[in-house]
Amino acid sequence: MSAIPGYTHGAVARSPISEADFALMRKTVLFDAEDERWLRLSREVLADQTEAVLDVWYGFVGSQPHLLASFTDVSDGKPLGDYLGAVRRRFGQWILDTAAARYDQAWLDYQHEIGLRHHRAKKNQTDGARSTDLVPFRYLVPLVFPVTHTLRPFLARKGHTAAEVEGMVQAWVKSCLLQITLWSHPYVKPGDF
Ligand code: HEM
Repeated sequence: MSAIPGYTHGAVARSPISEADFALMRKTVLFDAEDERWLRLSREVLADQTEAVLDVWYGFVGSQPHLLASFTDVSDGKPLGDYLGAVRRRFGQWILDTAAARYDQAWLDYQHEIGLRHHRAKKNQTDGARSTDLVPFRYLVPLVFPVTHTLRPFLARKGHTAAEVEGMVQAWVKSCLLQITLWSHPYVKPGDF
């Protein structure tokens, strides 16, 4: 088990999405073996930059009250530092997992868990946080743009060509779209996913 509290990759319930379903989702977003190679290259590029990336992403969420709201105390509306800090450690691991591109059954299962953790099904439980009970669905998909757009300068920092940087960015966009869709499962009416 990992040393990161609450990071339970490999020890969660099975995803309701089969690997065959996921293969068709990948096909739909044009995610192929080349994207896997771009993601793995991005892992080398990002490995020693994850804290700097997280500073940017947390700065973005922290500067927008409607987003920060999901990390606040339900009783007084103040940001919960411990909760933000605990989630941040798993977020750092998520950067590396996304870039490792080992999208097997264990990964699919953990994607479902991440979706549950944004939804009222499981939000707050991992960290025992006294926060709001749901990350509103309407913010999940739009956040893909700032997350991937702000990654570009970090991907460009290690001397790769413009075409290589573009390949990495596009693979990240595709991966994030796939993941956000998987995370949406608890928000979608039963039978409609
Ligand atoms: C591109 C969109 C998003 C990405 C990539 C993302 C990524 C993540 C990751 C990696 C985690 C930790 C998962 C784990 O426990 O291992 C997490 C948790 C969390 N995220 Fe997001 N997220 C996104 C959208 C949002 C939005 C829009 C909000 C609302 C402000 C949000 C609020 C949260 C909260 C509150 C948690 C903690 C959930 C819990 O209680 O366990 N996320 N997110």
